[in-house]
Amino acid sequence: MQRPRRLRRTAALRRLTAEVTVAPANLVQPLFVADGITEPEPVPSMPGVVRHTVDSLVEAVDAAAAAGVGGVMLFGVPRERDATGSAALDPVGILNRGIEAAVTSAAGRLAVMSDLCLDEFTDHGHCGVLDDNGNVDNDRTLACYADLAVVQAGAGADILGLSGMMDGQVGVVRAALDDAGFIDTALLAYTAKYTSAWYGPFREAVDSQLQGDRATYQQDPANRREAVRELLLDLDEGADIVMVKPASTYQDVIADLAAVSDRPVWAYQVSGEYAAIEAAAANGWLDRDALMFESVLGLRRAGADGVLTYWATELAQRLQ
Ligand code: PBG
Repeated sequence: MQRPRRLRRTAALRRLTAEVTVAPANLVQPLFVADGITEPEPVPSMPGVVRHTVDSLVEAVDAAAAAGVGGVMLFGVPRERDATGSAALDPVGILNRGIEAAVTSAAGRLAVMSDLCLDEFTDHGHCGVLDDNGNVDNDRTLACYADLAVVQAGAGADILGLSGMMDGQVGVVRAALDDAGFIDTALLAYTAKYTSAWYGPFREAVDSQLQGDRATYQQDPANRREAVRELLLDLDEGADIVMVKPASTYQDVIADLAAVSDRPVWAYQVSGEYAAIEAAAANGWLDRDALMFESVLGLRRAGADGVLTYWATELAQRLQ
């Protein structure tokens, strides 16, 4: 008789035969750094997550590195916003100061990544600049991304996270970096980033000014095959790592990309996925610690090599 239960009998046998694992090095901790604050500010819809000062960011990066986390992804929250997100280009603007501080704190123990997008910096909240009709202007936005990339690479980021979903963004940014001599700055492409209600708490965290949605540039949640089209474009344009976002409701897409990509595939367990489990756990309805592990393990099983999760440091500490 076939008895699959034989390998489930003891903890040692289960551990020996597990198909995937979660290691601290697989995890990336997203961190917010805000301009003009003197104390870290809690984000109400994300219990345990704060908007950091540069000083508290340094401590958070150190804690992540000490726990063995693979990398941090930085998002800047500026004090002032305008139509073109110009604060993002200021070499001493909040995100660029955060990158420099994080690189110093990390001291080579983990990779420092930064969000390359305009939405945190624009007064309309879109990921690009707008044309006269109020539509996101793809090609003018690409020119902004090229400038942003050179500034962030200059601040010392190891990897730039291209989260704007503009067509051609990976190729334009790669060319701009190469022209400026930043041949070793790697690109993480948000390849399949879907229009999603799971981003709600993030928009509170970065004080997003967005009215409406991003459906004209982020992917339609109905589409699976289209993600492979985006993947082939990003690989062709020179992406070093590709990513699917959100994670839990897009595991078919993670599996599809993992089957085709010759480069690492990551998943982003986004703010709402975190908040949903935290909120249910606060009510005593779900086991927070168990789900922190199970939810990330599921993404690894689907095919994600790396996972961005707001639990990265805590989970890594528990895994150590
Ligand atoms: C855009 C960006 C977003 C997130 C990461 N990068 C927001 C959006 O597309 O609205 C969301 C991350 C999360 O929800 O945790 N720069």
